Amino acid sequence: MTSLHLNYDQIANDYDQRYPSAQQWERGQALLNLAKRINARTILETGSGTGYWLTLLSQVTPNLFGFDYSMGMLQQSQNRPAPLSLARGTATQLPYENESFDLLYCVDAIHHFGDHRAFIAEAFRVLKPGGALAVIGHDPHETGVKGWYIYEYFDSVYETDLQRYPSAKSILHEMQETGFQNPAAETVEHIHNVHIGKNVLDDPFLKHNATSQLALLSDETYQTGMRKIKEKLEQSTAAKELITFRSDFPVKMLLGYKP
Ligand SMILES: C[S@@+](CC[C@H](N)C(=O)[O-])C[C@H]1O[C@@H](n2cnc3c(N)ncnc32)[C@H](O)[C@@H]1O
Repeated sequence: MTSLHLNYDQIANDYDQRYPSAQQWERGQALLNLAKRINARTILETGSGTGYWLTLLSQVTPNLFGFDYSMGMLQQSQNRPAPLSLARGTATQLPYENESFDLLYCVDAIHHFGDHRAFIAEAFRVLKPGGALAVIGHDPHETGVKGWYIYEYFDSVYETDLQRYPSAKSILHEMQETGFQNPAAETVEHIHNVHIGKNVLDDPFLKHNATSQLALLSDETYQTGMRKIKEKLEQSTAAKELITFRSDFPVKMLLGYKP
């Protein structure tokens, strides 16, 4: 049985391989636009990882706070050019005073927080009136198994994601219940990568430690998935057919305002 919890200390050193320097991420642009639009002076990212997105937001304000459970990830974010105020703990108990932030966001992280309702309540508490909560990520409940080739080739990954990720619908519902105004989903990026033939082996997201999906797998289960991909490549070469491996799913921003 695959574990549902990943210790990010184990993969912190290699984590940033997912962010090649040439890539411009639309979700980063969406965050930047939001921060500018609401004139955010104080910003907190929960599950801030290596500080990649906070660094981008240094264009908007110097008051950037990163909060993460993993010491290894926090250590990586100390080397960022922008000075970040960092703290360690769990997102369901934030060590900040009421009404401290104009913007609180998380990227690819809410599924790690365990009790997402408790996190949303904490976000509401530490946001200033008029402040915004933005939850960014993909929703495997919507993506479906065909949306990401990783789900097709690696045993149990899709089922585990269904267990780990709250659906976008349930997060919006909880934001509404907590008191956020006008919670709504917006697609801020569309992941659309088509790897042709053996180019798939260069996909940085296929590395064992690049995503929690694969990092949660034992070596054996990971190698079984890699073998399936390689067998498929061999079969297509033998049949002189072109095979493609697709990642094709939306990344959403779930946004609500504290009245
Ligand atoms: C997939 S990474 C995302 C990091 C960063 N947001 C990014 O997009 O690059 C998920 C992060 O959530 C952190 N995390 C996991 N459980 C947490 C918790 N309960 N409270 C706060 N952070 C947590 C992990 O340590 C990790 O850094």
